[in-house]
Amino acid sequence: MTTPLEKLLESARTHLYPNYRQPDLVMSHGEGVYVWDTSGKRYLDMYAGIAVNVLGHAHPAIVSALQEQAARLGHMSNYFYNEPNIELAERLCRLTGMQRVLFGNSGTEANEAMLKLARHHFYSAGQVERYRVIAFENSFHGRTLGALALTGQDKYREGFGPLPGVSHVPFGDLAAVERTMGPDVAAVIVETVQGEGGVVPASAGFLEGLRKLTEAQGALLLIDEIQTGVARTGRFLGIHHYPRVRPDALSMAKALAGGVPIGAMLCTEKLAGALPPGSHGSTFGGNPLASRVALSVLDVVEKRDLAGHSARVGAYLGERLAALTRYPAVTGARGQGLLQALELSETVDARTVVTDLREAGVLVTVAGGRALRFSPPLIITQEQVDEGVGIVAEVVGRLT
Ligand SMILES: Cc1ncc(COP(=O)(O)O)c(C=O)c1O
Repeated sequence: MTTPLEKLLESARTHLYPNYRQPDLVMSHGEGVYVWDTSGKRYLDMYAGIAVNVLGHAHPAIVSALQEQAARLGHMSNYFYNEPNIELAERLCRLTGMQRVLFGNSGTEANEAMLKLARHHFYSAGQVERYRVIAFENSFHGRTLGALALTGQDKYREGFGPLPGVSHVPFGDLAAVERTMGPDVAAVIVETVQGEGGVVPASAGFLEGLRKLTEAQGALLLIDEIQTGVARTGRFLGIHHYPRVRPDALSMAKALAGGVPIGAMLCTEKLAGALPPGSHGSTFGGNPLASRVALSVLDVVEKRDLAGHSARVGAYLGERLAALTRYPAVTGARGQGLLQALELSETVDARTVVTDLREAGVLVTVAGGRALRFSPPLIITQEQVDEGVGIVAEVVGRLT
């Protein structure tokens, strides 16, 4: 007899486009930092839908924001203003120090908007030859063709070329940026912590140097805060760790509405005219439903000081992970706030470790090929970190 799970899996394998590698289970529901599959097995979620569910699962603030806004006004598109969206734009400007916000539905869209902003800014200024962008090796900026052109990892780019107009240089290498810089460069784009690239934080000197080099050349500095934003690294934005660096534009998505799709490109007033009406847009961007949920997420992030919590519990998680370097399978630990990584030795297959951890009841992801990435809900407690790291220690302790 076919079980309900087997029926679901068979249907998934038959109908879903097979571009992911899901395991043979189906997730059912979640609460706080835990999720359950349809067989009733419980998991401690230490990846939060890839740094998205900052308030964990089924948070009452998100549930009631969704219910109330859906019962009021769900969608109108951009022919009209709507209240939650105006309020969200104002809130984000206050929290980020930027002056203008353009909304979309995902990270890759936010980066597309930022790339179009940079190119159109110089086009409008009559500098039509100024379109090249400098990005970094091992960066990740998304998978639409514009964002993919920025992404500096061959495994994502292969087979989709040509992806012209972007020069990739080693992350952290200011001299290489200087050599690649020129009057045709419109912008430099950088993550403050390379997330998909393996959780590699930039140094203050590197980001400050990028600001100086772009300023000297009249190019824009664009910061991708899609993984680092919304208190993930212990400050509201990753760039807030470097107060001397003021970007021209930045992108946010992932955690902004705690699991409801949203993306945002934020910029300074100087760039407010770069994308005039008709030059860019999105049917769903700025819709009242996602905006209201984002406001409810930001309410909780601010009221509970989840940035401070992320800094404290993240430092604790970092210490606990660093202690695991006593095992032969672990070669290092690094991170910022609640974005942490455990580097595994070359002899170990990180994907297999993720599977072993899942079977043991902890969910994490692989980043940069050899690192386990921890990006749990920001509401995680020290005790829950102990619970997760205890299981990780058992699993990696068995490896040689
Ligand atoms: C730094 C960064 N930029 C962009 C993206 C793309 O975001 P999305 O998957 O929402 O398109 C991601 C996603 O992992 C990311 O980590």
